[in-house]
Amino acid sequence: MRSYHLAFWLIFILTNPFMFVVAQQKSIDQKVDSVLRLMTLDEKIGQLNQYNDDWIATGPVTVDSDKSNQIRNGQVGSLLNCLGVERTAAWQRIAMQSRMKIPLLFGQDVIHGFKTTFPIPLAEACSWDPEAMKLSAQIAADEASASGIHWTFAPMVDIARDPRWGRIMEGAGEDPYLGSVIAKARVEGFQGDKLGGLNSVMACAKHFAAYGAAIGGRDYNSVDMSDRMLWETYLPPFKAAADAGVATFMNSFNDINGVPATGNKYLQREILKGKWNFSGFVVSDWGSIGEMINHGNVKNDYEAALSAITAGSDMDMESRCYKNNLAKLVNDKSVPIALIDDAVRRILVKKFELGLFDDPFRFCNAEREKKALNNPEHPKTARQIAAKSIVLLKNENQLLPLSRNIKTIAFIGPLVKAVKQNKGFWDVDLPGVDSNFIVSQWEGLQNKVGETTKLLYAKGCEIEGNNTDGFAEAVNMAKQADVVILSIGERRDMSGEAKSRSNICIPGVQEDLLKVLLATGKPVVVLINAGRPLVFNYTADHAQAILYTWWLGSEAGNAIADVLFGDYNPSAKLAVTFPRSVGQIPIYYSHFSTGRPASSDDNHNYNSSYLDESIFPKYAFGYGLSYTSFAYSNLHVSAATINRNEQIVASVSVTNTGKYEGEEIVQLYLRDKVGSIARPVKELKDFRKVLLKVGETKTIKFIIDNEKLSFYNQNLEWVSEPGDFELMIGASSEDIRLKGAFQLVD
Ligand code: NOJ
Repeated sequence: MRSYHLAFWLIFILTNPFMFVVAQQKSIDQKVDSVLRLMTLDEKIGQLNQYNDDWIATGPVTVDSDKSNQIRNGQVGSLLNCLGVERTAAWQRIAMQSRMKIPLLFGQDVIHGFKTTFPIPLAEACSWDPEAMKLSAQIAADEASASGIHWTFAPMVDIARDPRWGRIMEGAGEDPYLGSVIAKARVEGFQGDKLGGLNSVMACAKHFAAYGAAIGGRDYNSVDMSDRMLWETYLPPFKAAADAGVATFMNSFNDINGVPATGNKYLQREILKGKWNFSGFVVSDWGSIGEMINHGNVKNDYEAALSAITAGSDMDMESRCYKNNLAKLVNDKSVPIALIDDAVRRILVKKFELGLFDDPFRFCNAEREKKALNNPEHPKTARQIAAKSIVLLKNENQLLPLSRNIKTIAFIGPLVKAVKQNKGFWDVDLPGVDSNFIVSQWEGLQNKVGETTKLLYAKGCEIEGNNTDGFAEAVNMAKQADVVILSIGERRDMSGEAKSRSNICIPGVQEDLLKVLLATGKPVVVLINAGRPLVFNYTADHAQAILYTWWLGSEAGNAIADVLFGDYNPSAKLAVTFPRSVGQIPIYYSHFSTGRPASSDDNHNYNSSYLDESIFPKYAFGYGLSYTSFAYSNLHVSAATINRNEQIVASVSVTNTGKYEGEEIVQLYLRDKVGSIARPVKELKDFRKVLLKVGETKTIKFIIDNEKLSFYNQNLEWVSEPGDFELMIGASSEDIRLKGAFQLVD
């Protein structure tokens, strides 16, 4: 390795035209200026061009056997889906044969882990634990960077309120406040303190913007959205990511009110690079520049390139519109060279910050790669975070946690012995790494129970289809057991990109299987594996206990067993509302009141309700049980009246009144009672996760300042208005335990 490096440096110094420029102690801006001055237009455009490596595809592939030549000619700035030190180093060596020797950037969808797979982002969001999410991003960055990756296309910070949309699994749920806290944590986790650390990668806030609001929950669909909704609900997590120093943004496939996000000047130039002063670069989504032709927004790829570069899309992922048109656009004087220079500059700055100009191979150390991918601490952390992500939805008669003295457990269902399924969508399928490191649910339970407990297994049925042939065997096993655990849900590829569903019930005959198992009279614990909130009313109403396990990653089996037996007392709370039926969608807690609000399902007297469905969700945002119970008392609001320069402290005592040590997520909601623009019935403004021993009481303080009272007024100015505020503290958005009030005065 060392001799290879020396040889490389010698060649590098002797052949690099700007070597001396780079070597001097100059600011990065000065260095970039010097490099830019030496570049031809073709080389500049090359920096804006990103290709897929031919290994894996995460979009529609364009066959192109000439990539090596183009890299050698300086016509490519970045590759995605290129994994491992060996392969990234091989491409980088080709880039080093180019005239300017500008290193390639390697980007990858490291969404919830690299080799060690963490829970899908929506599951992790239910932990309401920013430190845990930061840590999982840090570990993902450590493994990815050791494998030659410089850049992750994460976090996805799209607010999503429609569980039909398959990509709801990739974000932090429905709420802009929680989403912003999580966006910050994930960016900090991926990037570390400062770009350029060997164990970190550049993060990418995506998809800018409003991708999660696709009409009908159908992926890539149009978005019709008011400016107010955009600013209040969809932009805050992006702003939080920008404030946290995220290096890059990715724009989105959707159009917003008829203008594709990729060609959207308002979003990218005015808001992101203007108002927010974002100094990183924007990458398009896969082919999204060319797709503006399909949108009906531009005539051909010449116009698509013009629209995208003018709007502020700096790098073209896989559409080839920049490569094929930018030179012509500059020569035609339709695009000023300053626009190209600005985009190139933004990309080169990041390459400098990552240290790639100092050593293009600094992330290509095979020994480090081996070590990082086999770090025994990583699975341990993944297990803890997975346990924190499991939501206890129901626990009748305290069926859970299970006793260690149970004689026989029947573990039934199509997901019990599944291995890869546990990784969920957007895992990284590393070539040459087999699946042995993934702990199946069966293995997890086996690891947990002692020799005195007998484990029985039956598959029962498949995830999909209507074959019930396996029911008899499952019932037979259940009859021999003291307790039944049933693991059902979606397939992992039923949520994710291009995985929208109009029917979000538990597929196939899985709930029928539950019915026959319940008929045995045995207690049944149901594990629901999914990438989205599903509709499962029968299960919800009849199973004795339900754990929503989402997709938990490589340590799924161990984490589930930890929770089943009480080695971890569940603490997660839903980051997204669960509907009772598809007809309720979109349903979210922070809705407006309407002029004719309904307060119950019994009365349809000219009010805002359904004749045939409840207006209430099945499970509310912020809901989740523990094996213990918590009492809330002593709400104290420090003042009845404040002005804009003052703060209010709301304190509350929370006591663990149950039999187990446990964590509670205490939630603060506010309502601005009268506003020039109507305000939602409640908005999450803060939360605390607090660990309490049995019988222990802790006092939690929330500070409420002018920022928490502000909103966008008619002119989209961020202001607070004098008047009455209601303050609500609770265990979920529905389970409000204590209420207070105060007034804001001028
Ligand atoms: C398309 C997805 O929308 C985006 O999130 C992803 O990063 C790219 N493909 C690359 O895989």
